[in-house]
Amino acid sequence: MKDQYNRNINYMRISLTDRCNYTCFYCRKDYKEHFKHEDILSYEEILTICKCAIQLGITNFKITGGEPCIRKGYIDFISQLKQLPVTSVTLTTNGSLLNHFDLERLKEIGIDGINFSIDTLDSNEYQQICGKNKLNLVLDNLSYASKIGIPCKVNCVVDEKFNEDKFKMMLSLIKEENIHLRFIEMMPMKYADANKKMELCYELLRKYEAEQVDIHLGNGPAHYYKIKGYQGYIGIIEAIHGKFCCSCNRVRLTSLGFLKLCLFHRDGLDLKPYLKDEKTLLEKMSEIIYLKPQAHNFENEHSTTIMNEVGG
Ligand code: GTP
Ligand code: 5AD
Repeated sequence: MKDQYNRNINYMRISLTDRCNYTCFYCRKDYKEHFKHEDILSYEEILTICKCAIQLGITNFKITGGEPCIRKGYIDFISQLKQLPVTSVTLTTNGSLLNHFDLERLKEIGIDGINFSIDTLDSNEYQQICGKNKLNLVLDNLSYASKIGIPCKVNCVVDEKFNEDKFKMMLSLIKEENIHLRFIEMMPMKYADANKKMELCYELLRKYEAEQVDIHLGNGPAHYYKIKGYQGYIGIIEAIHGKFCCSCNRVRLTSLGFLKLCLFHRDGLDLKPYLKDEKTLLEKMSEIIYLKPQAHNFENEHSTTIMNEVGG
């Protein structure tokens, strides 16, 4: 469907839970409380919302968290979602709660892609960032997922410490394998501050003679580059310096059932009161999505959005 600014909204990010086994410093550093189980939507309720979304032309779904793989039954849920007339269902995860069997099941039910959040390939730094010593396990899952034919991407948030060594280290992931690596500009959120490191990232792209390519890999805001001799592409997600709100195509559903219209703004609607009546639910969703705000304001303010409650 089109919103008030004529943008085509065709992508919904669904947060299955706010819980996470990691404590990434930029996401939920001192987080102790989480939503009560009885307050979060059941899978059946999420599917009801997805059916309405599909009727509105929103047919691409991204499963997020917290950490989505922490929620029991998430693979069966994805399988049910895949049976609806969707265009794509993909997952963004830290990759630490997966194993080869889960990945085979995800492949079998037709997952269209997995994005792994991996901010560094240095074990000590990894532990400093996310509080867990699971880098080897995550890398093994990434490599297995790619080997069995699941399209994989890696998300690397560009923090204050970003430098050429890190850039080169991360590039090693895409040298021989058809995995795509995305550098993400740090967004100023409750626990995160903006930085200027994307400038360095662009400088390094130039230094390594990366060429911009006109390719779409998924439904997100990344634009991509290619370096000769590397199998994978390099994506840039630059919410502030490369503001992409005029082409924003997405809304977010929190695990509490709040339909959030923009990562930055509070605007949205609690869908819970309408779940028993699909006709009203459809009308309410259509009305509220139409009102999606024109743009974020990350360049001037921190957002009060808490990342693990919204799923990035
Ligand atoms: P694909 O490219 O389809 O795989 O999806 P994606 O890039 O949207 O998904 P992913 O969950 O990997 O998100 C990557 C980063 O993009 C995260 O840091 C998100 O917060 C950021 N992002 C995604 N959508 C938006 C958005 O609407 N606004 C902003 N500012 N950032 C977004
Ligand atoms: N800025 C940019 N990206 C972020 N993510 C989480 N918090 C931030 C932030 N403040 C990323 C995660 C994950 C994705 C869903 O969102 O690293 O890859």
